[in-house]
Amino acid sequence: MKKIGVLTSGGDAPGMNAAIRGVVRTALYYGYEAYGIYDGYKGLVENKIKQLQRNDVGQILTHGGTILGSSRLPEFKDESVRQIAVNNLKNLGIDTLVVIGGDGTYRGAMELNKMGIKCIALPGTIDNDIASTEYTIGFFTALDTAIWAIDKLRDTSFSHQRCTVVEVMGRNCGDLSIYSGIACGAEIVITKETGFNRDEVLTQIRGAKAKGKRHLIIVVAENMLNVFELAKDIQANTEYETRASVLGHIQRGGNPSSFDRILASKMGAYAVELLRKDIFGMAVCSHGIEIDHIEINQALSKVKRTTDLYDYLEKLN
Ligand code: F6P
Repeated sequence: MKKIGVLTSGGDAPGMNAAIRGVVRTALYYGYEAYGIYDGYKGLVENKIKQLQRNDVGQILTHGGTILGSSRLPEFKDESVRQIAVNNLKNLGIDTLVVIGGDGTYRGAMELNKMGIKCIALPGTIDNDIASTEYTIGFFTALDTAIWAIDKLRDTSFSHQRCTVVEVMGRNCGDLSIYSGIACGAEIVITKETGFNRDEVLTQIRGAKAKGKRHLIIVVAENMLNVFELAKDIQANTEYETRASVLGHIQRGGNPSSFDRILASKMGAYAVELLRKDIFGMAVCSHGIEIDHIEINQALSKVKRTTDLYDYLEKLN
């Protein structure tokens, strides 16, 4: 009898529940036992593990967040902490584990794998910052949320002839910003990939005024700069009255989009198929809606390609 554990770790992402359901239902389909580990690696260390039945994952496909809970546990880098987790799993006879999260989660899985737990990693994060996968579970739902919010900001920005600066999430990756910028018709997008040059931005804004633009949207990825300071600077040095908004954690919640439900369901089921064939130490990757897998250590060593959407921004304005 195979016993398969599943956990979600790092920042939650819409679609994680669909992935959990995919793992549990597929495991049960094959006659395996499924175990939910609560609150990520922290819960694994604290032995918060419960067997899951079919109905435990009923009614979750459409829900945001993660029914298992999530956490960040920097101490998991410490081998003695990981050993506690391994012992907890072994005491229950669980030697396979599906982890759903970002690159920190992947690193944890890679180490557990070396300690005898057969792991599969699924990409679950709104940031779309995992190089081995074209899309992560949650990215398109978060993008839809950002678009929903920016469309509203556009209405009031237009009415008042303002420049609106909006901060979008994405700790180390500008994908949410550039995708939402393109989708919302932003004039300027500032991310780690574009860098920030104050003089260039002010020149672009003055240029927009000269072109007769009534209002402007500027999308800024988090951690680039203080959007409230930038708004003051723009208002003081251009003809646009300016306001700033930070979208924040609202982008992490909400019902997963159709794409995320399908991607997550497929990935959850695929993870069990891999374990069934005794393939482990793998990260599942998306190529659009198609999926395959590569070794977790290879996935972690890949460098993320920048989207070509940056090339379109100027032409679309
Ligand atoms: O999960 C990714 C993410 O939402 C990043 O975009 C953001 O930088 C970070 O998590 C925020 O983390 P926390 O919820 O721990 O503040």
